[in-house]
Amino acid sequence: MACVHILTKDLRPGMFIVQTGETWRSRPYLYAKPGILKNEAEIAEILKQGFVEAYYDPDKSEHLEDGVNDLLTARLVHPLPEPTVPLNEEIKAQEENYNNCVDYFQHVMEEARSGRLDYNSAKPFMENIISSVNRNADALTSLAKIKTHDEYTFAHCVNVSIFSVAFGRYLGLRDQNLHNLGLSGLFHDIGKMRIPTHILNAPRQLKPDEFAIIQKHAKYGEEMLSQIPNIPKDILAGVCDHHERYNGTGYPGHKKGHQISPFGSIISVCDVYDALSSKRVYKEALPPSKALSIMYGMRGESWEAGLVELFIKMLGIYPVGTPIGLTSGFKGVVTKSNPSAPLYPTVLLCKDRTGHKIVPPSTVDLAQQHEMQIVKALSSDTVDFDVLTLITEGKHVPKKS
Ligand SMILES: [Fe+2]
Repeated sequence: MACVHILTKDLRPGMFIVQTGETWRSRPYLYAKPGILKNEAEIAEILKQGFVEAYYDPDKSEHLEDGVNDLLTARLVHPLPEPTVPLNEEIKAQEENYNNCVDYFQHVMEEARSGRLDYNSAKPFMENIISSVNRNADALTSLAKIKTHDEYTFAHCVNVSIFSVAFGRYLGLRDQNLHNLGLSGLFHDIGKMRIPTHILNAPRQLKPDEFAIIQKHAKYGEEMLSQIPNIPKDILAGVCDHHERYNGTGYPGHKKGHQISPFGSIISVCDVYDALSSKRVYKEALPPSKALSIMYGMRGESWEAGLVELFIKMLGIYPVGTPIGLTSGFKGVVTKSNPSAPLYPTVLLCKDRTGHKIVPPSTVDLAQQHEMQIVKALSSDTVDFDVLTLITEGKHVPKKS
């Protein structure tokens, strides 16, 4: 049974209150009458009686969409279970699925340009993303950054969906909420299919009037998806709000603070991370750690204080799959982050200080030695070894061009 602590002032109708077994004498301010909270009047009565805290079970609660707000506001970061499948195995199992998902979504977006929106066919892909993230979240999040696609728009949508699922899970979302968040991330840019292609694909800085047209994609996306019968409102809000900024400088609604939906906030973080760390026609990809440091500088302005910090905590300062250079001149790839000492992850060393291959590559936990430290994060686009094969096969192969 899931059991989440909450202050009674944050209770919402639909929450299932848990009986903890504690007595009134030991915890007099704990409200613990089990069952679903029916309405605001019932909550007002609980507050009037002086109860200040309670426990609720998200799995038994109704109105799950309302629960998202509470989970995000409460910053309930649940300790996550250890991965059940090793990184290399899960990446190997997901490489083809990832490519298929990008191809599939390219088809969905192209169909949407012709006015046909196939929404329901995305659900099996979402189930796969969620089950893979549950087995080993590092696999798809690193694959999303190692794989390069010519068609940025489609891969970006899949990547944002992957990061949103991983981040939502990290924040404590689960089940239907996580599924909805992943779908909202996948479809967040669907409105771009109503933007003329000569503006959407312009390989240059956009003129102000063109940028104003691009900005309409968030609202267009919400409009397109609202045609789907019974689509959850959280999904629509995530699509509409993914360019809103905490300080009100975003678009389309210039919303501020908590006017921005929780899904919109989560997707916005994932959207910026993937955009910064991806190669585009007009810019090189930033190494993931550089992208995260830029986003850290935007904390409290673009996003509510604490949100980016949690995203960085989830991925690590050097996310898994990042190629790195070390003080000794060695090179390697991060294979496991270290939440308690983020500067000292576990690394697979592949080149020595003279640039010769280390055969076979050797694993070093940087927290357990004093000889080397990371001096530079590199981009998988620019290193001369194939990062994916190194992680999955433990061997060097010439980089595919
Ligand atoms: Fe967008």
